[in-house]
Amino acid sequence: MAHLRFGIIGAGNVGVGTSRGDSFIRALANSEDAVVSAVYDIRPENAERAARSASAQSFAEFEPFLDCGLDAVVICSPIAFHAEQSAAALERNLHVLSEVPAVHSTEAARQLVSAATRSSAHYMLAENYCYLDEVELVRRLAQDGRFGEIYFAEGEYVHDCRDLWADDEGRPTWRGQGGNTIGPGVYCTHSLGPLLFILEDRVAHVCALANETSTVAEGRRGSFNFIMLMQTAGGRTLRVRVDTVSPRPHQAAYYSVQGTAGAYESWRGLGDKPKIWLSDEHEESHCFESAAWHPLMDYAEQYIPERLAVGDEARAGGHGTSEYWMLRDFIGAIKRDEPPPIDLHRGLDCTLPGISAVESASAGGQLVSVPDPRRM
Ligand SMILES: NC(=O)c1ccc[n+]([C@@H]2O[C@H](COP(=O)([O-])OP(=O)(O)OC[C@H]3O[C@@H](n4cnc5c(N)ncnc54)[C@H](O)[C@@H]3O)[C@@H](O)[C@H]2O)c1
Repeated sequence: MAHLRFGIIGAGNVGVGTSRGDSFIRALANSEDAVVSAVYDIRPENAERAARSASAQSFAEFEPFLDCGLDAVVICSPIAFHAEQSAAALERNLHVLSEVPAVHSTEAARQLVSAATRSSAHYMLAENYCYLDEVELVRRLAQDGRFGEIYFAEGEYVHDCRDLWADDEGRPTWRGQGGNTIGPGVYCTHSLGPLLFILEDRVAHVCALANETSTVAEGRRGSFNFIMLMQTAGGRTLRVRVDTVSPRPHQAAYYSVQGTAGAYESWRGLGDKPKIWLSDEHEESHCFESAAWHPLMDYAEQYIPERLAVGDEARAGGHGTSEYWMLRDFIGAIKRDEPPPIDLHRGLDCTLPGISAVESASAGGQLVSVPDPRRM
């Protein structure tokens, strides 16, 4: 099969090496199956810079870009454009790998589902945190039944991103202009996505509460310490925290899982490591004598051997090797003409609870039903 021709939408603003367009250009440069042949950005200088780095064509107009002979697009534009640009590409039967979140509203989700139904192309949500080594290892342990029945799981995205609210000259970026469109709940996918990937479940109900903070800039306030409590269709309880403005050290990929036969928690800092306790293998837990945690990564050789074997080129996209494995799955699905692992329904399963959670928080934490994209 000839190389798949990829187009990048949204080259990157903040500087070379920090934006998603650049990450995908670097990750695709190592692909044996794909090549970046076009870059589109509403700012021509951004498109030209990124296109030069990929020896690709640059476009400042959307329609000519879509019609330049591409097979697939990677959508790295601000959140408010993901749904409409995904739908436009699917209408032309171009495969879509969309940055997170999939959509910014329930109505946009309906329109995207409708466009996907009419298309012969595949859609995948680029939820790269699902592809972290730690998450894949826990997913395989869960599939192997090592935790027993999992009834509780948590995720946290605590990442001080205030630097990204203005550019080097102090002008507000799309984030600084409220470009996440509906509030922090919409950015829950890095925390919720991996939990649903591990559990193979979807969220049925959510309630949320938020604190007001004024850490963004003098005189500006926003509700950015966002806590979601969820019940899944499978009867599990999930908790997610999304906080992109609190001044503190980062932990953007914290997860925990509790089952009837075992537990797992990510690192918390100060030399802490991801850890696990399994009832069939480790010492018993008693009220007056706690069982001990064990290093999660002791299980890597048994459960994720192929991940230990990849070379440094697999790290080119960032986030460890997650972009490498995610692109492999997306390209593999196109080649085999089968749905990718995080297809549109699963992508919306990671996204829609955040939108319902914003509704809940503005109603004082009321329980809200989350729409099922399979019934849209
Ligand atoms: N998966 C992850 O780890 C991760 C990390 C950061 C950001 N993101 C997501 O990636 C996307 C891009 O984030 P970023 O940090 O690269 O942003 P960025 O500001 O660095 O880059 C966005 C680019 O999009 C361009 N743009 C603006 N409007 C556009 C439009 N209508 N069509 C085409 N291009 C447009 C801008 O000119 C800019 O070049 C966001 O949706 C964000 O939610 C994901």
